Amino acid sequence: MISGDPKLTVVGAGPGDPDLITLKAIKALESANVILYDALINDKLLKYAPINSEKIFVGKRKGCYAFQQEQINELIVARAKSHGHVVRLKGGDPFIFGRGAEEIDYVKQFGIETYVVPGISSMAAVPAYRGIPLTKRGASESFWVITGTTKSHKLSNDVALAAKSTATVVILMGMGKLDEIVSIFSSEGKQKTPIAIIQNGTTKEEKVGIGTIETIGNIVKEKQLSSPAIIVIGDVVRERVKLNSISEEIIQNQKVVSNQIEI
Ligand SMILES: C[S@@+](CC[C@H](N)C(=O)[O-])C[C@H]1O[C@@H](n2cnc3c(N)ncnc32)[C@H](O)[C@@H]1O
Repeated sequence: MISGDPKLTVVGAGPGDPDLITLKAIKALESANVILYDALINDKLLKYAPINSEKIFVGKRKGCYAFQQEQINELIVARAKSHGHVVRLKGGDPFIFGRGAEEIDYVKQFGIETYVVPGISSMAAVPAYRGIPLTKRGASESFWVITGTTKSHKLSNDVALAAKSTATVVILMGMGKLDEIVSIFSSEGKQKTPIAIIQNGTTKEEKVGIGTIETIGNIVKEKQLSSPAIIVIGDVVRERVKLNSISEEIIQNQKVVSNQIEI
């Protein structure tokens, strides 16, 4: 049944900690008729949506059916026409390696109104929760944010360019290409450059490995680090601040809340 005009709002859900969502995102969820959400979305955010709204998981999880991008595009259009307001809830910020713009481009062809609500991206928030600033006076004047997995499943050529610079380098979706990344930085003589890998950042499943370009391979094996993870390379990793820490408290609170729900 249509509840209002067909409409799409692409919403950033933040990096994992459910408190890292914006007020505007919550307002969009509150007025949704249908929510299509991805794998990295914290389930707790769905509580903001009306009880009778339709919630469709369209992400990839091990052993589950994964929707293809074309199917998601078609589903958005079909549900907007039949139900009204569709919220497309995406991890972090929808315009940073999030395919948010592609979905809007597709949907616009059908004359459907489209909106975007930016989110807090994992690229900055995940390092921040570990006290790593992406820039710091005297340590880093700029940063690159690069994908480890391009459309053709290759490491972006920009990693080699970034490795030549003095900037902080942040790599998303790069765990499968870690050996290649290490060899690029080594070939620039950067074996001693600090590197941090943060898996499931800002959540209670967070795992961290910190070392240098020459030691990180062993650290990853020892700590069994894998995706989803953020890789941060540069002096800012050494310059990280000791937090005492609002993020730790939030993670602790999440544990308490989930215990309460279980009991
Ligand atoms: C398809 S990209 C989406 C990025 C998202 N749009 C954003 O702004 O954060 C998915 C990748 O983001 C990174 N990522 C997202 N959330 C993360 C988290 N909580 N901890 C570590 N890495 C995360 C990982 O590299 C993951 O493979």
